[in-house]
Amino acid sequence: MKPQKISIVGCGRVGTALAVFLSRAGYEIAGVASRTHSSAKKTVKAVLAQGGSEAIKIYNSPAESAMAGDIVFITTPDHLINSVCSDISAESSVKIADKTIFHCSGALSSCILSSAADKGANTGSIHPLQSFAPYAQDQKSPFTGINVSVEGNEKALATGKMLIQDLGSNYFTIPTESKTLYHAAAVVASNYLVTLENFALELLKEADISEHQGYEILEPLIQGTLANIKNRGSVAALTGPVARGDAQIVEKHIRDIDEKMPEFSRLYRIMGQYTLRLAEKREELDQVSIEGLTEIFTDQDNG
Ligand SMILES: NC(=O)c1ccc[n+]([C@@H]2O[C@H](COP(=O)([O-])OP(=O)(O)OC[C@H]3O[C@@H](n4cnc5c(N)ncnc54)[C@H](OP(=O)(O)O)[C@@H]3O)[C@@H](O)[C@H]2O)c1
Repeated sequence: MKPQKISIVGCGRVGTALAVFLSRAGYEIAGVASRTHSSAKKTVKAVLAQGGSEAIKIYNSPAESAMAGDIVFITTPDHLINSVCSDISAESSVKIADKTIFHCSGALSSCILSSAADKGANTGSIHPLQSFAPYAQDQKSPFTGINVSVEGNEKALATGKMLIQDLGSNYFTIPTESKTLYHAAAVVASNYLVTLENFALELLKEADISEHQGYEILEPLIQGTLANIKNRGSVAALTGPVARGDAQIVEKHIRDIDEKMPEFSRLYRIMGQYTLRLAEKREELDQVSIEGLTEIFTDQDNG
């Protein structure tokens, strides 16, 4: 058994996964607390079913649960992390200066745990780049092989790196002040990719190709593009009419979209403007093409 004991506050998707898989990695889950007793009970059941230590206890409050562990995970919804941490820090029987406190939000930094840091706790954030479903008995570890960011003070960083490695994940560190931009990057890379692919599929639907067939048609192109970005970088990976400076083709796209799917006109133009900036970085476009494309992409914006 590892020397550090773990407390979990917030027995939802991430809290339960941490409890089960840190326990499997040899940590004692000493205490859990949640808003409802039933969630805490499910987490305890999941830990015990995977051979976890019988010493695990359900506590009635975050502070009591925090008392049981050396490392405390606050895995509540993001908007409650601050107040839960304040409640833990305000409780005089919690030896806060001996604790390392983490949350798992991608959008928030360790600064949100300042009530604990001010009293001497080590604080950090550990953000798994993973989508967690509710825990299912005997499921595979959602942590295996994924990338997890960690930031915080020096001791929290060291503890975080150790926990991440013990979960079978890869860690990378980010500066505390960059947490918001880091999270914005994850949103763009994942959520906005979905928006873009939806745009492409809507265009195909207008061309009488169903969403299912549309995805099958596009998938090799999408995968090939991702492979090009990986192998050559995002600037060199760009192909197509904007990269070639083919204003006539782009003009035809815009004419059809404006006529048949005007709700996408602005998105197409804005994506075009940024794609043109990318194409310009390759220094292969002549000035006439750049000016022509700039005019086409800005047309409706000014109208
Ligand atoms: N889900 C993901 O894919 C994912 C990925 C990366 C990071 N995260 C981060 O992980 C954290 C947890 O997210 P999640 O998806 O696991 O959320 P979740 O499934 O909604 O779980 C949150 C848990 O917090 C508990 N809770 C609510 N108020 C509480 C309070 N005052 N005191 C103690 N416990 C309380 C809830 O308890 P009851 O069940 O008892 O009501 C719930 O089980 C968030 O910071 C999120 O940003 C999530």
